[in-house]
Order: sequence, then C-alpha cells, then structure tokens
Amino acid sequence: MQLYPEVTAPLRLGRLSLKNRIYFAPMGLDMADECGGMSEELARFYRGVIDGGCGMVVLGNSSIDPSTRLHERGLCLYDDDHARKLEPLLSYGASRNCPVVIQLQHYGAQGGSRFTGMPLLAPSAPKKYPPRASGEYRTWRIMDVHDIAAVRRQFANAARLAQSAGAAMIQLQASNGYLLGSFLSPYTNRREDAYGGSALRRARFLLEVVGDIHDATRGGIDVTVRLGVDDCLGPEGQEPHLLGGVVRALERVGVAAIMCSMSIRETFHYLIHPTLAMRRRLIEGVQHIRAHTSLPVGFAGFTASMEQAESLLADRTADLIGMTRAIFADNDLVAKSLAGRQSAVEACHFDGNCFRDKANPALDRVYCCVNPKYKRPEHIRYA
Ligand SMILES: Cc1cc2nc3c(=O)[nH]c(=O)nc-3n(C[C@H](O)[C@H](O)[C@H](O)COP(=O)(O)O)c2cc1C
Repeated sequence: MQLYPEVTAPLRLGRLSLKNRIYFAPMGLDMADECGGMSEELARFYRGVIDGGCGMVVLGNSSIDPSTRLHERGLCLYDDDHARKLEPLLSYGASRNCPVVIQLQHYGAQGGSRFTGMPLLAPSAPKKYPPRASGEYRTWRIMDVHDIAAVRRQFANAARLAQSAGAAMIQLQASNGYLLGSFLSPYTNRREDAYGGSALRRARFLLEVVGDIHDATRGGIDVTVRLGVDDCLGPEGQEPHLLGGVVRALERVGVAAIMCSMSIRETFHYLIHPTLAMRRRLIEGVQHIRAHTSLPVGFAGFTASMEQAESLLADRTADLIGMTRAIFADNDLVAKSLAGRQSAVEACHFDGNCFRDKANPALDRVYCCVNPKYKRPEHIRYA
C-alpha cells in the first residue's frame, strides 16, 4: 500500500510533471560566490536537497539587478556569468527528475544599501523604516514611471537569463514585503496613480512584469508567483479577502501556479514562530486563494512532516506543499518517509535561529541546530 497517496499523486504544474507534491521552498542561504554566482558550496547543498526526494526545488532569491541586494553573499541573476554558473545545478535537477525553479527578487525598501550605495525603491514613503545596519548609507525613493519601466526591464532580463541557463520555471517573489509584494499591499502602496488605489490597480506592476517575462522569453518558460496573502497587520495591511480579483487576473495573464506566503519585515516573527493561531491564519488564507482559482496553489509554512503534508493535501488546502526548515534539518525527509523510515527523520526545532543567522555579523552563512552537515558553531547562542 502506498504510504502517502496524496503526496505521491502526480501533479502538472504548467509544463512540468512533478513526481510528488513536496517542494523545497526558497531559502536564501547567503552562500553565493563573491560575484553573486552559484558557488560550489551552495550547489553541493542543493544537490543534497535534490537527492533527498522532493518533487521540486525553488532556489533562494536571486537579485535581478546590482542596485538591489540584501546580503553580500546573496545569489544574483543579472548577467551571463550568473546564468552560466547556474547551468550545472539546473541540469543536475533535471537529470534527477527534480525541476529547479529560479526565484527572481527585487528587495525594494526591505533591501540593504551597504553593498549598492543606491536608494531603496518603494511604491510610497515607507511608514516604518527598518533600522540601519552600522555603516550603512540608506535612503529611499518613491518609484516614478521611469523606475517602474527600469525594474520591469530588469525582471525581463533576469527571466531571459534563467531561461537560457535551463531553469525549469521562474517564481516571482511577490510576498514578504519585498518590492512586488509591497506594490500589492495597501500598507506599503498608497499611490494615487495607475499603480495604486484598488487591489487590481496595486497588482498592475506585477501583471506587467509577468507580461514582460512572457514577451522576453517568448512564452518559453512558465512563471509562478509567490503571493503574500497576509501582512499579519490586520485591516491596515494585505489580507486574503482583498486578493480574489488579483488571483483571477494572474490566471488570465498566464501564470502557472500561485505559491502563498505571509508576513512582511515588521511581522516576520509570525512566519518564523509556528504558533497555532498563525498556522491557522495562513491555512485559511491559502484556502481562500484556492477558492478563487483553478491554478495549482502551494504554500510553505510550519509543515514539519510528511504526515502533515498528506493531511493538508487530503483536505484540499493546497495542491502542493512547500517545506523549508524541515527539509533543511533533514535533506532526506521525503525519501526516508516514502521508504517508511519516518522515525529516522531528524526533526526541525522551528526555533527560527536559521533566520536569525542571516542578520548575525559573526556568521558567514545560515546554519542549522539539527543537521550535522551544517551545524551552527557551538559559540553562537541566541536568547
Ligand atoms: C533562513 C531562511 C531564508 C529564507 N529565504 C527565503 C527566500 O530567499 N525567499 C523566500 O521567498 N522565502 C524565504 N524564506 C521563507 C521560506 O521560504 C518559508 O516561507 C518559511 O521558512 C516558512 O516555511 P517553513 O516553516 O517550512 O520553514 C526563508 C526562510 C528562512 C528560515
């Protein structure tokens, strides 16, 4: 008898056929080389995840332009060299029947300017300005139509590079408060031009980016959207009930799937700490989105085991389930569970410390407290 019939039921995602419905959701590990290219260390990490049995891997965010960065060793995809360095990993995934998706990212006002010296781009004046890291020059600019046109070109260029490198699919990061998500949210977008006002007008920029990518790639690569369904700010911010028309518009412009996430910088603690209330809120948000579209809907957030994934699929909350930290803690979680070796899975503690590593100047990358392959150094302690 098949142990996980829902997880192993075939799924068509755009042009892809997935061998199972678990994907490794994006995790920026800050292990790119000094030019923002795929390093051997980072490729080795992803090969381990690919070999661990999940149906698809979404790489951590790739910055689409040198003017938008967050970490010195974050991945980038804006020139031929970046694309060339991605090729071996993309073909490794294809050869193992585990498609590798590239997530394209513009950090917007949540970026850093330490490495760029450039103003941060925002749809409107940020209400809350994130604290400045030491030595960081920081200023922001409300995007005018020229900025919007320039960023559209950057997304199209990055998508063309992803296609040329052999990416299985592109994911646009339109969640978690970054640029595309900040246009969608009433908390960060208070524009009075054609890019603000109603939910659909706030989605105009994202819809244009999708169209530009289809043009630049001649429709040769599918595009998915990681959609921020809830800023966790209540009525002041993005909420699932505002997004029905946006999801239908994304379907009309040919997006292949919607992958949900929640929270923005001010509320990241909700994404990182799995309280029962927050898990419920995310799940209800995903269910609301799914009710508005016939596209496959996925989400990542607090799924710890294949049993949980199986039940989320069985109750039709989503069509595919992302796991980030659980697969980080044990790259072989899927393969072990499918083989009936659930008790051998090393369980994630969901303490959020891997997320804290990203902002820890004493560390060179993101670590884990469980996985022996990248155990956090002993002397690093969080309160
Ligand atoms: C260290 C770390 C890095 C992350 N990097 C990204 C990223 O690059 N892009 C993104 O969309 N989400 C990123 N996320 C969010 C995850 O994709 C995911 O939504 C979140 O961890 C909740 O899922 P989980 O409970 O399965 O870990 C990151 C999360 C962590 C912990």
